[in-house]
Amino acid sequence: MGTITVRNLADDVKQKLRERAAARGVSMEEEARDILGKSVLSAGAAAAPEGETLYATIRSLVEPHGGFDIALPRRSQSAANRMTLSAKRILLIIGGGIAAYKSLDLIRRLRKRGASVRVVMTSAAQEFVTTLSAGALSADHVFTDLFDRNDEHDVGHIRLSRDADLLVVAPATADLMAKLANGHANDLASTVLLATDKKVLMAPAMNPRMWSHPATRRNRATMQKDGIAFVGPAKGEMAESNEAGEGRMAEPLEIVAAIEAMLDEKPKPLAGRRIIVTSGPTHEPIDPVRYIANRSSGKQGHAIAAALAKLGADVRLVSGPVNIADPAGVKTTHVETAVEMKDAVESLLPADAAVFVAAVADWRTANASGEKIKKVAGKGPPALQMVENPDILASIGHHAQRPGLVVGFAAETQDLIGNAEAKLRKKGADFIVANDVSHASGIGPSGVMGGDRNKVRIVSRTGVEEWPEMGKDEVAARLAALIAERLQATVV
Ligand code: C5P
Repeated sequence: MGTITVRNLADDVKQKLRERAAARGVSMEEEARDILGKSVLSAGAAAAPEGETLYATIRSLVEPHGGFDIALPRRSQSAANRMTLSAKRILLIIGGGIAAYKSLDLIRRLRKRGASVRVVMTSAAQEFVTTLSAGALSADHVFTDLFDRNDEHDVGHIRLSRDADLLVVAPATADLMAKLANGHANDLASTVLLATDKKVLMAPAMNPRMWSHPATRRNRATMQKDGIAFVGPAKGEMAESNEAGEGRMAEPLEIVAAIEAMLDEKPKPLAGRRIIVTSGPTHEPIDPVRYIANRSSGKQGHAIAAALAKLGADVRLVSGPVNIADPAGVKTTHVETAVEMKDAVESLLPADAAVFVAAVADWRTANASGEKIKKVAGKGPPALQMVENPDILASIGHHAQRPGLVVGFAAETQDLIGNAEAKLRKKGADFIVANDVSHASGIGPSGVMGGDRNKVRIVSRTGVEEWPEMGKDEVAARLAALIAERLQATVV
């Protein structure tokens, strides 16, 4: 495998990469890898044009040099093509938001997995995508009007809502959420939602201020109490320029995973089990605008939380700041610092198991400044005094209310097994999932941290089990199965 050195890219490509990387707070390599990864995942689908152009540019620059060492997430053909939704009937309600274009991709992905998709579009949705596109992709009539006596396809809102196995609202706008939370039924979408006797999944998408508005929060809480499931939204850049925050619709594949989980009828070996998972990095403040962080994306921890939920566990995820959506079917608490993460984890005890995936900062500044530290000419940089953070895994591993099963992670660049075995004992864990983040592993530190693949060894008191390199979702599924197996040996 050759090498792409970002340094060798053309200046205009580098500049574009730099801007995008800075906006997301990631390295340029990571940004390039993400663009390449997304292009692979969305091959054949409508990817963001800017991303595609950039991808093409990077690719054309890279190929003559013989490839790249930025690990390209390999698409799991088998996972993408499995008929996981065979014969399932989805009623997709498309609300009026810029994210509506992603719902077209969602239709395609659902049908590829064997589902039939019927589409209802609000009138606002039709400002963003056409009924023609939705109809072509779903191979069905698209329903838009509550009363359409001229429509030969008019099946009536009751039948429309009952004929489906699941109702999915994507994008779920603030307006659609408000309507359902308050029982309004003044158009086809809201009427169908109110008339249904089936499960409902919402994928909200809106401006971050609208999402954080007390009214929207209230509506969400009401709907959650009513049993409506949510996937996302994620943090990130908005379509409007200079707008960023929480409000981006979950990606189509995340919505598909949430749908699969909701329609999964397989036996749930973890039903009735409460499992705590930590994920992502922590941010340790230096002053109100600066912090110490690391490259953890939260992908592995979130995937584990989702995989455990799929097996029926009541999963409580404690997540540091990440740019990915909360996993569906998981109750997520968001924290910033290691101390907040420890408090959140302790407040969730007792639990049957706990999985500590978060890349917790080992140190924090002794006393973060309340004011922005000014650069003073001639004074030099400030001396940051650091103190050690609490070790959450170790404190729970030795806690009076220690969960029956405690799993830790260890990212090492040397003596992987020796270090993992030492951690197992010192931190009171039952398993340590050890990943080699050295370059020798073939994935490399920037590949594991933030990438989509992982190669792990499971270190326990009884020995070491080596797993082949696989996607983080597969690692998550296997680990969830292992946890289920271990807990099944324990009486509930
Ligand atoms: O010692 P090290 O940081 O390598 O240990 C990694 C494991 O310990 C991970 O499971 C991580 O989530 C956990 N950890 C923790 N709190 C810390 C440091 C690490 O829970 N302060």
